[in-house]
Amino acid sequence: MKKISNYQVTINYETEIIEIDDLNFFVDMISLRSKKTICIIDRNLSVLYPVTSKKVHVLEVESGESIKTMESVRPLIQSFLDHQIDRSSTMIVIGGGALTDAIGFIASIYLRGIRMIVVPSTLLSMVDAAIGGKNGLNFAQAKNQLGTIYQPETIAIFPKFLETLPEVEWTSGFAEIIKYGLIADSDLCLELLDFDLAKIQNDPTKMMTWMTKCIQIKSRIVQQDPTDKALRKTLNFGHTIGHVLESSYNIPHGHAVGLGMIVAGYISEREFQIDNTIVPLMIRLLNQFQIPTQIDWNYAAIANGIRKDKKRANEIIDFVLLNKIGEAVIKQLTLTQIEEYLHIAKTEQWIS
Ligand code: GLY
Repeated sequence: MKKISNYQVTINYETEIIEIDDLNFFVDMISLRSKKTICIIDRNLSVLYPVTSKKVHVLEVESGESIKTMESVRPLIQSFLDHQIDRSSTMIVIGGGALTDAIGFIASIYLRGIRMIVVPSTLLSMVDAAIGGKNGLNFAQAKNQLGTIYQPETIAIFPKFLETLPEVEWTSGFAEIIKYGLIADSDLCLELLDFDLAKIQNDPTKMMTWMTKCIQIKSRIVQQDPTDKALRKTLNFGHTIGHVLESSYNIPHGHAVGLGMIVAGYISEREFQIDNTIVPLMIRLLNQFQIPTQIDWNYAAIANGIRKDKKRANEIIDFVLLNKIGEAVIKQLTLTQIEEYLHIAKTEQWIS
């Protein structure tokens, strides 16, 4: 076990992020520390990486977006009651972003919050979704309408999961890695330029260095702004348009974020006169890691989706833009301004 990072959001509570090389040994260690341990694992993952620890009660669940509903989590909560999970117990969740979102939410409300350990299984959740305590369920066809910010005690990164990660999960996760470079670390952008997907998939040491960088950037941001009031919003670079594309076109989160970053890059050119080599660089990076940079542009669907953005305060959206490579800024844009940009995006074929 090796420490990667840590962050502290209140005086007495610290979240540690570690790298582990043996999943069952880690689960055993946790179970020895706790009176009772329950482990919730994605059923598909469990076929490849079974949890064999004798002291742990294992619940295998279907994952994917369908787990993120009130109806889907109800039997899980019942099962915690049946197994007499109490405030001295520990919950370990092993899975991707959807599962950690759903279980994070239950962990935060069950008995007003029980100890939680997260082992993210996808690249995207290792570098982003599992860090920082945001969780959520979908409600009334809108994503993450219910949720809390509840920090795990430990986030354990098990790089071996990457060996069996589907290609689409690699590319989706890489969009977030590129995002960290663009908003916070220009050196990371330079390093990424020297690689492509095939090359990094054959270089686990470099891969761990990049994941560590991203995790440390996110830890720093979460520690400074745990409740998403200002700095943490910069992590949403590419996400305003991205979320709309994700739900309207049903594409993977990272792919939608990649496209959203290109749009945000072009808007940054107009709002901040950033260098006109930045967007081409972003596109090159996305191409190198096989993240789509074009889509059939449906103005009506996208504009309609923006209007439903949950972060909208009246007619204003906190839009994350770039000042330069490695530095993000939040600019309040009106819905009308954004709609104008969406028109320009269509005419100038920013991503179509
Ligand atoms: N994924 C953005 C955040 O955690 O704030």
